[in-house]
Amino acid sequence: MPVVRIDPAAPDLAAVARAAAVLRAGGLVALPTETVYGLGAAALDAAAVRRVFAAKGRPPDNPLIVHVADAGDLDAVASDVTPLAAALVARWWPGPLTVVLDAREDVPRVTTGGLATVAVRMPAHPVALAVIAAAGVPVAAPSANRSGRPSPTTAAHVVADLGDAVDLVVDAGPCALGVESTVLDARGTAPIILREGGVTREELGLAAGGPSGDVAASPGTRLAHYQPTCRVVIAPVGAGVALAAVQAAAGQRVGLVAPVPAPPGVVEVAVLPGSDALAAGLYGALRDAETADVDVVVVEAVPEVGIGRAVMDRLRRAAGRS
Ligand code: TXA
Ligand code: MG
Repeated sequence: MPVVRIDPAAPDLAAVARAAAVLRAGGLVALPTETVYGLGAAALDAAAVRRVFAAKGRPPDNPLIVHVADAGDLDAVASDVTPLAAALVARWWPGPLTVVLDAREDVPRVTTGGLATVAVRMPAHPVALAVIAAAGVPVAAPSANRSGRPSPTTAAHVVADLGDAVDLVVDAGPCALGVESTVLDARGTAPIILREGGVTREELGLAAGGPSGDVAASPGTRLAHYQPTCRVVIAPVGAGVALAAVQAAAGQRVGLVAPVPAPPGVVEVAVLPGSDALAAGLYGALRDAETADVDVVVVEAVPEVGIGRAVMDRLRRAAGRS
């Protein structure tokens, strides 16, 4: 499928217009965002959105996030922009925060997975914003992976998973953040986190646990997700090298993702020092572990503070432990 490279520092207007035209015509465009690559389609075009579900192999009851290029477009899809949502959006958009609100009647229920609510975000990526603005329509975009696989943080990951199912892949280089947006129910007076993500609980002023602290049911968080074809084992903080060495001594082909280099006899999949680096590199490392053909990849944990919460949530799911 065609791949068009767009420089985020100076987006080429002709290339942006080409991607926008594909979206307006009901096509699928893989788009870079600051979190992960999304598989975009015109959000109010039910037929286009159905193609997104088909391309991903996504269960029809797992709703999509609708992306807008301007905070003022929130009410194009949400019927009731609560004071809470208005305040959150004023503070965090553009950025990795998705708000769930009551949906307008004209948002197809295929987009919302049959729900009467809609999830909306404005991504902090110049290329995504340029394409969505040029399309002039809200863009539904789940992560551009096959359902259940690690999310894509490069255009090559998208091509590997979705191939010819996409009409156009926009390549703007690797995603900076590497984990998805925080999804938050903003219908009431206090935010309820549905999925941990790029805007942290601490930044939102929410305590761990507590009345609004539980990760409530969101369709996508119930499903097996982020899983590579090899086994994923989580090592405690500081214990990646030791655990990988033990597994290798037991005769397995072992890969390691840790803040420090791999010991002899262990395949060094990625050296990612710190939570931000692991956030940015985790999904790519899981895919690299597949390519390296290891039986098991050991990934060293990070402390569950800040972005570390989202990273550990994804890592546990990758390991099939949540
Ligand atoms: O960073 C991101 O959010 C990326 C980029 C592409 O924007 N998108 C993304 O989309 O992660 P996806 O489809 O992979 O995950 C969307 C999550 C799912 O867990 C889904 O169930 C939840 O958002 N979601 C969407 N609409 C919802 C709604 N109306 N109510 C509750 N949860 C919803
Ligand atoms: Mg996803």
